[in-house]
Amino acid sequence: MSELRQLLRDLEVFAGDLPTFDPAAAPADPAALFTAWLLAAVDAGIPEPHAMTLATVDEDGAPQARVLILKNLLPATGGWQFAAHLASPKGRQLTAVPRAALTFYWQPHARQVRIAGPVVAETPERSAADFLARGRTARAEALLGRQSGPLTDPAERAAALAASRDRLAREPDAVPPEWTLYTLLADRVEFWQGDRDRRHTRLDYRRTDGRWTSQLLWP
Ligand SMILES: Cc1cc2nc3c(=O)[nH]c(=O)nc-3n(C[C@H](O)[C@H](O)[C@H](O)COP(=O)(O)O)c2cc1C
Repeated sequence: MSELRQLLRDLEVFAGDLPTFDPAAAPADPAALFTAWLLAAVDAGIPEPHAMTLATVDEDGAPQARVLILKNLLPATGGWQFAAHLASPKGRQLTAVPRAALTFYWQPHARQVRIAGPVVAETPERSAADFLARGRTARAEALLGRQSGPLTDPAERAAALAASRDRLAREPDAVPPEWTLYTLLADRVEFWQGDRDRRHTRLDYRRTDGRWTSQLLWP
């Protein structure tokens, strides 16, 4: 067996003092349970608890996934929000196939949440408000609108960023029209609580006709 393979086999999972999860006491609304788990991660000082993997597919059905930051959760609609440039690969994929999946993993708690559903683009006003709430550097970068295009010359990036900063200094309210706040309207949310002895607990919520139901799943 190769050294790396052995090293991977020897690494621990689900170690440490894990929280408990009683699915019988779980709320009827998965947004409430998600919020409780997220706040528990924040309280425990877990780094970047709002980082999540966003999975999309392109028009040929090929999946792609990347990490993004959760911007907000709208409990009334079960809406998880994130923002992206419409012309980025993920933006183009969401235009072609407006469905996505999100995965959160809070390692010290051995907790995973999987969320899936259709994605809608919010109004230009809401998208602009999201953009204007970003820090200056993040806005200057996003104004470039060239995310994931080939970068042949790093000097070109520095010059473009400097031009973007100059533009923001002249027009502090500049907003790229392609900046989009997206809302994933969950129709499925699964909570997974890991256990050191592999007695993992899975609670799966499904929404049908606007009503949430939940059931346990085999781990
Ligand atoms: C912790 C973390 C947070 C990130 N947050 C964002 C984000 O909020 N928005 C974003 O466009 N990219 C973010 N990225 C970069 C994306 O993972 C990705 O590289 C980029 O959006 C290009 O993706 P695309 O080519 O699929 O469009 C983040 C990466 C990491 C590791």
